Amino acid sequence: MSPRVLLFTGKGGVGKTTVAAATATLAAGRGLKTLVVSTDTAHSLADALAAAPGEIAPGLHLHQVDTQQTLERHWGELQEYARGVLVELGLDEITSEEITVLPGAEEVIALLELREHAREDRWDVIVVDCAPTAETLRLLALPEALDWHVNRLMPVGRKLVRLVSPFVRSVAHVSAPGEDVMNAGERFHRGLMEVRELLTGDHASVRLVLTPESVVLAEARRTLTSLNLYGYRVDAVIANRVFPTGGADEWRAQWVAAQSRLLAEAEQSFAPLPIHVVPYLPAEPVGKDALTEVGAAIYGDSDPFAAPSVEPPLRMSADELTLALPGADRGEVDLARKGDELIITAGPYRRILALPAALARRKISGAVLRDGVLRVRWVASSEPPQEADSALRFSSGSESATG
Ligand SMILES: Nc1ncnc2c1ncn2[C@@H]1O[C@H](COP(=O)(O)OP(=O)(O)OP(=O)(O)O)[C@@H](O)[C@H]1O
Ligand SMILES: [Mg+2]
Repeated sequence: MSPRVLLFTGKGGVGKTTVAAATATLAAGRGLKTLVVSTDTAHSLADALAAAPGEIAPGLHLHQVDTQQTLERHWGELQEYARGVLVELGLDEITSEEITVLPGAEEVIALLELREHAREDRWDVIVVDCAPTAETLRLLALPEALDWHVNRLMPVGRKLVRLVSPFVRSVAHVSAPGEDVMNAGERFHRGLMEVRELLTGDHASVRLVLTPESVVLAEARRTLTSLNLYGYRVDAVIANRVFPTGGADEWRAQWVAAQSRLLAEAEQSFAPLPIHVVPYLPAEPVGKDALTEVGAAIYGDSDPFAAPSVEPPLRMSADELTLALPGADRGEVDLARKGDELIITAGPYRRILALPAALARRKISGAVLRDGVLRVRWVASSEPPQEADSALRFSSGSESATG
């Protein structure tokens, strides 16, 4: 039985760690074997729970990623190679500490660990406190983007290794990557694909944490669009730090008014997703007791650990592809076809979709974006394939664009 995986993301400082820790505490309180992890190496989860990593309450386990140790396990061969090359070039050895400086490395490693935990068959619920919005997105899109590159580069890479190795060795006195290194790279890549499958699978969903502020809301909308683009199910929004209404002085009354306006806006933007409201507490909710109360406030009578009820955003049938892109404007959605790939762009985010053979050979008859759903249709006949690289652009005002 796969564990229920709950990911929490949102803009910096909105309360992701608090909400993740509260959700995990609630899960354990309901008798679910719960693991709570963070993808960043800051130890804020431990701070919020006021506990050291390990079993911190019956059925509640806090895991802290040990980047260094995991890195050595996963990237050992690659590291060996990098070290070897540098030594041959007369440079100092690269240390594994230096590899962790690579952008996103820590989050990637945390996700690889996550996959191992999910496999363990020990957890009912895994709660993940993700890095702030932008990083999480980049990170979540990484496996697929890498898949694309690796599929292209790996075979070439292998050929290059064979062709270049003797040459490189004799001329540059540097070893080209051997087969073993390629295999390590492939293993790493396969691991990332498995993480992606886990996080887009039937048992996983993302919850967006926000505070009712215009800047935060704007970013949350974009995050919702891009998470959908990449195939992740978002099943709830949590509005944190909402001021209580009664007995307010003028200063607070103004905040209350502004927040209720923004909450109404959020309801419109995110419908039909439920928005769970968490009050602005008189003190920081630190420790299990405070977090248990926050958990109860967030979810009320609903069951936050039930299987996600939202459909996966992307669906493909024999002659149609639909992709939910809530909040996307026609002007910012762009579609291009390149051979057997469909490249979908929504604002600054891009997804490269490998088309199944049945669709790859056929011509696209039209595409529309309506009510937050992108719909691409293929012609039913066996007409010759469309020219490579032809773009289907949505111009504002037109309902459809054809290639
Ligand atoms: N509802 C609340 N009422 C009062 N204080 C809160 C509430 N939610 C969170 N806080 C406090 O706000 C601060 C930031 O919360 P938290 O660390 O959970 O945010 P975050 O989104 O994880 O931040 P980061 O982006 O830095 O990881 C913490 O001190 C936390 O205790
Ligand atoms: Mg945090």
